[in-house]
Amino acid sequence: MMTAPNPPMQTRTLPYGAVAIAEAAALIRAGQPVAIPTETVYGLAADATDSGAVARIYAAKGRPSFNPLIVHVLDLAAAERIAVFDATARALAAAFWPGPLTLVLPLRPDVGIASLVTAGLDTIAIRVPAHRAMRALIAAAGVPLAAPSANASGAISPTRAAHVVASLGGRIALVVDDGATAAGVESTIVAGLEVLRPGPVTAEDLARFGTLAAPPLGKREEDGAAAIVTAPGQLASHYAPRKPLRLNATEAAEDEYLIGFGAVAGDATLSTQGDLTEAAARLFDALHQADASDRSRIAIAPIPQTGIGAAINDRLRRAAHRD
Ligand code: TXA
Ligand code: MG
Repeated sequence: MMTAPNPPMQTRTLPYGAVAIAEAAALIRAGQPVAIPTETVYGLAADATDSGAVARIYAAKGRPSFNPLIVHVLDLAAAERIAVFDATARALAAAFWPGPLTLVLPLRPDVGIASLVTAGLDTIAIRVPAHRAMRALIAAAGVPLAAPSANASGAISPTRAAHVVASLGGRIALVVDDGATAAGVESTIVAGLEVLRPGPVTAEDLARFGTLAAPPLGKREEDGAAAIVTAPGQLASHYAPRKPLRLNATEAAEDEYLIGFGAVAGDATLSTQGDLTEAAARLFDALHQADASDRSRIAIAPIPQTGIGAAINDRLRRAAHRD
């Protein structure tokens, strides 16, 4: 842990609006992290230029300090002041920003980003979010915001304010509530031409840029330290619910909470129509509900690997993985 553990604090939830953004910006200026929605998941945002503020993100999440954070800015011009863009990166930014795409690019020297944000790497993960709440906070704070997902390290990402409170209540001062997030899974991460993390910007969306699909799960972990440098957050057991998870289930055992999809009806169903976008938006909420249920295990129906289904299956394989 980078800082001494803070005493428990009262966590307030405020609905999105001028009051919430003013209070959130005041906390950011005071070096405190604030939970705020993006179009993917709720983030835990802090001033990326303030190493103490960034340390408080790591402390609140209990996150290992080798795991670098994504920096959020308002537009391409702001991103170009921090990172070096090549032609591919500019084309990707033009096509998908603002939106759920993160680019890993060379970090410009001496631009004031706290080295804790990049965990000492010479690259930086950067994105321009589309969500009104995150955009309002970046504008009001007037600084780039480092923000990982607003959950305790290793737990399922939050897609609702209540998920944040359940995971980080007592450890952060404020959650800005703007309802359920639209995409429901974390942003797609691209480094050069490689997809490091599948997400809402799909392999199909990226194909015309010559981007390469992510290597299969497990391959990166096998490479040990080298893998930790290229994709430090891509640990196999990321996104884990507390209970064991069984994949590709078509029916549930008595002690299982079944998450359905399409023709497989469950205790919760991601999309009865078999719509993958709807399924992604509901995925983490269903996992949170399954974790909170009276059943001791979780089972989930098969999800097609097309489009955002690749991101859903990536998260599910990690959620099912036990070390
Ligand atoms: O949708 C999202 O991306 C959300 C919202 C809040 O923006 N954020 C998010 O952050 O998912 P986080 O910290 O949970 O995941 C960031 C990922 C990690 O896998 C981390 O290792 C990777 O980005 N990352 C950050 N900087 C990197 C770098 N320089 N090189 C490679 N991977 C990097
Ligand atoms: Mg996360």
